Amino acid sequence: MEKITVALEKRSYDLLIEDGLLNRAAEHLGRFARGGHLIVVSDETVWGALGERLRQGLGDIEPLPIVVPAGEASKSWQGLQQVVEQLLEAGVERTDHVVAFGGGVVGDLAGFASAILKRGCNLVQIPTSLLAQVDSSVGGKTAIDVSAGKNLVGAFHQPALVLIDPSLLDTLDPREVRAGYAEIAKYALIGDAELFDWLEQEGAAVIDGSTGARLRAIAAAVAGKARIVEEDERETSGRRALLNLGHTFGHALEAETGYSGSLLHGEAVALGCVLAFEFSVSRGLCPSEDAARVRDHFAYVSLPTTLASLGLDKAGERLAAHMRHDKKAEAGKTAFILARGIGKAFVDKRVELEEVAAFLDRAA
Ligand SMILES: NC(=O)c1ccc[n+]([C@@H]2O[C@H](COP(=O)([O-])OP(=O)(O)OC[C@H]3O[C@@H](n4cnc5c(N)ncnc54)[C@H](O)[C@@H]3O)[C@@H](O)[C@H]2O)c1
Ligand SMILES: [Zn+2]
Repeated sequence: MEKITVALEKRSYDLLIEDGLLNRAAEHLGRFARGGHLIVVSDETVWGALGERLRQGLGDIEPLPIVVPAGEASKSWQGLQQVVEQLLEAGVERTDHVVAFGGGVVGDLAGFASAILKRGCNLVQIPTSLLAQVDSSVGGKTAIDVSAGKNLVGAFHQPALVLIDPSLLDTLDPREVRAGYAEIAKYALIGDAELFDWLEQEGAAVIDGSTGARLRAIAAAVAGKARIVEEDERETSGRRALLNLGHTFGHALEAETGYSGSLLHGEAVALGCVLAFEFSVSRGLCPSEDAARVRDHFAYVSLPTTLASLGLDKAGERLAAHMRHDKKAEAGKTAFILARGIGKAFVDKRVELEEVAAFLDRAA
């Protein structure tokens, strides 16, 4: 079993990574049960596919499930209200641990509910999507979506433990696996050129379900995130902002395609990383060979790499308009994560959106 510690003084916690870990859930969660029970928040799809496995893994501990509909729409005021009220009905105390068992939606929703319930109870994450295993379950960001935008209401609330079992991905839609993979490649592009070299060889095996390849990729990715979170837990120094590589472009692509499911978040991040590297080349910062490797790699694993494939060529102005509305834009300038090469990302806080729009019109 791989153990990675996120060292945050009193808020430190472990990420345990092992194939089949869920089968031994009782070993790791026994100390969190009260009166033989453990409250588990999940969604209908995950609970249907994996609820029984969790029940078996918990042995004598009985899970008390709170199950929300699958999908982003559950990350809402209404979804939050329902979960919080059900937690109160179940008699959760501040010292209790709520288990988030699902993808990023369940993690963010149950995470935020546990951040505010009785001014904060404890949280355990058992992420079931690849995106959640390598990204959202680690680092303590929790949120819901409101009419003004996604993830605008939330809290930093670190979990007490994260159990990562790659075998849970066997029931996940392959398209969702691929989308989660984009975030793994993102960590490599931010600061781990060796990991990117390895992904160029083994990326397809990670996606296709090779146990060894998945374990290695997940461990490398979460270790990368853990180190960044340790340095900048609340995204104040700028270090944590590096995790947004590909995301300023990506969020604009998601907004332009209407968050419709036609473009998954990870798919937008893949194209966003390609654009971030090509934009860096256009500014004379990054060798063009590195940008070509990024594009070739995402194309090789069948993630989107061109604006034209989304019908968004010559959409520079429209995409820049979404960035202008992004909460981080100020006076026509916004923060971008650029790169001097693979594994060499950095933050530029003052990129002119006009320049970005012109670049996007030139990009195909
Ligand atoms: N807190 C953070 O730091 C952070 C980071 C990145 C993303 N996020 C958030 O995460 C969310 C996206 O997460 P996601 O991609 O996991 O979406 P998701 O939770 O909606 O999961 C995607 C789909 O896969 C299903 N699913 C999940 N695991 C499964 C499994 N093992 N077997 C079968 N089906 C399974 C879900 O029911 C859902 O339909 C977004 O809301 C995003 O804002 C948060
Ligand atoms: Zn992301």
